[in-house]
Amino acid sequence: MTRCSSPTATTAAPRNSRPRSRTASATAARHWPHCAGSCSTWPDPPRMPTLTPPPLSLYVHLPWCVRKCPYCDFNSHQGRGPLPFEAYVDALLADLDHDLPLVWGRTVQTVFFGGGTPSLFPAAAIDRFLQGASARLRIAPGAEITLETNPGTAEHGRFELYRQAGVNRLSFGIQSFDDGCLARLGRIHDSREAESAVKLAQDAGFDNLNIDLMYALPGQDLAMAAHDLQRAFALSPAHVSHYQLTLEPNTVFAARPPDDLPDEDGGWDMQEHCQGLLAAAGYAQYEVSAYAREGRQCAHNLNYWRYGDYLGIGAGAHGKITLGHDESIHRRWKHKHPARYLADAGTDAAIGGDDTVGPERRPFEYMLNALRLVEGFSLASFSARTGLEARAITPQLELATARGWLEEADGRVRPTELGRRFTNDVVALFLPD
Ligand SMILES: C[S@@+](CC[C@H](N)C(=O)[O-])C[C@H]1O[C@@H](n2cnc3c(N)ncnc32)[C@H](O)[C@@H]1O
Ligand code: SF4
Repeated sequence: MTRCSSPTATTAAPRNSRPRSRTASATAARHWPHCAGSCSTWPDPPRMPTLTPPPLSLYVHLPWCVRKCPYCDFNSHQGRGPLPFEAYVDALLADLDHDLPLVWGRTVQTVFFGGGTPSLFPAAAIDRFLQGASARLRIAPGAEITLETNPGTAEHGRFELYRQAGVNRLSFGIQSFDDGCLARLGRIHDSREAESAVKLAQDAGFDNLNIDLMYALPGQDLAMAAHDLQRAFALSPAHVSHYQLTLEPNTVFAARPPDDLPDEDGGWDMQEHCQGLLAAAGYAQYEVSAYAREGRQCAHNLNYWRYGDYLGIGAGAHGKITLGHDESIHRRWKHKHPARYLADAGTDAAIGGDDTVGPERRPFEYMLNALRLVEGFSLASFSARTGLEARAITPQLELATARGWLEEADGRVRPTELGRRFTNDVVALFLPD
């Protein structure tokens, strides 16, 4: 999982860590506290029986959009004709029933409706799904329940109904407040609609709002990127996700890249400048692309990045589940195409694949997530979430520290500023042989 909350290819490298130069300055090598000095010579990844089920989240994928954006590689499909909302909710509940044995007795801490464009779904459909889910699973009281919202689908009255259904956080895909940029991105909304959608949601009582912005857009300069942030701040969201536009394989932009994209240095300058603006406006960075006011981090995404568990329900959704009884970690994903998913949901035929994450892959998967976080991770959490002793990763930690990419303090390992520029290289140290 990289951008936002769509758990898809969890072993993909993080996207928003763009090195400006390939030379990392080395600092003096040091030993890790749990190492007696010969730690780089451990033969096999040592295991100990500490793998305990972490917090559980529920991801629900709603795959349709009004129109496919030219930069988007998510499992999203342009809806043609009336969409089968009711049949899809039936399929989601059947899918959930089928996955339930993986999570007997556990409590769901967060729910995330991602897409696609979940806000295409009527509130009654979201309500029916949440009621059905609550009848099958324990959902923690006060659980964060997020719905991704496209400003072009906002309608008067709809936000009140989402709130009544139990949604308590909205994530707006705004991308830019510049109408020229929005048109180049193929968005269905303009800046006026974006602002009025956020205000409608606030009037409906939503105070936990995220705004997704992208930067390094075609034709965008630093002043325009900064102006986008100022327009976002004026709406006072609790959270801002600030993504660098990436050209993803199999998208229109990858096939025909816009000729006026900012170059790598231009993109880097925007990122640095915008980070300063976000900090000054009270949005603390806690992940590569995520910034929040105090106490408003996205609990759902944090659970991914802390290598928590999640059920993935819906077309193309991925799940990761720790089974306590035999200390194993499993991944399961569903078929991507909505028509096939609708036909097969709730049966084995809807499962795109099942995989077991062996001990040798766990350090890499863990770091792929945890090293996105400014807070880094504790060695105790590494052991609890992977079932491995900390000494399994001592050689890599020493090397990364020697290169100035990681630092350790108060029992936590954190990426340095340099490490954050080289996230891909740091994570690659943990790849299995
Ligand atoms: C799954 S999308 C869902 C949001 C919603 N469908 C929308 O676009 O309004 C989540 C976010 O990922 C970001 N995103 C999508 N494609 C991207 C790309 N190629 N590069 C960078 N960010 C991207 C956008 O900011 C988008 O809002
Ligand atoms: S609206 Fe969102 S999910 Fe749909 S195509 Fe555009 S970026 Fe992708």
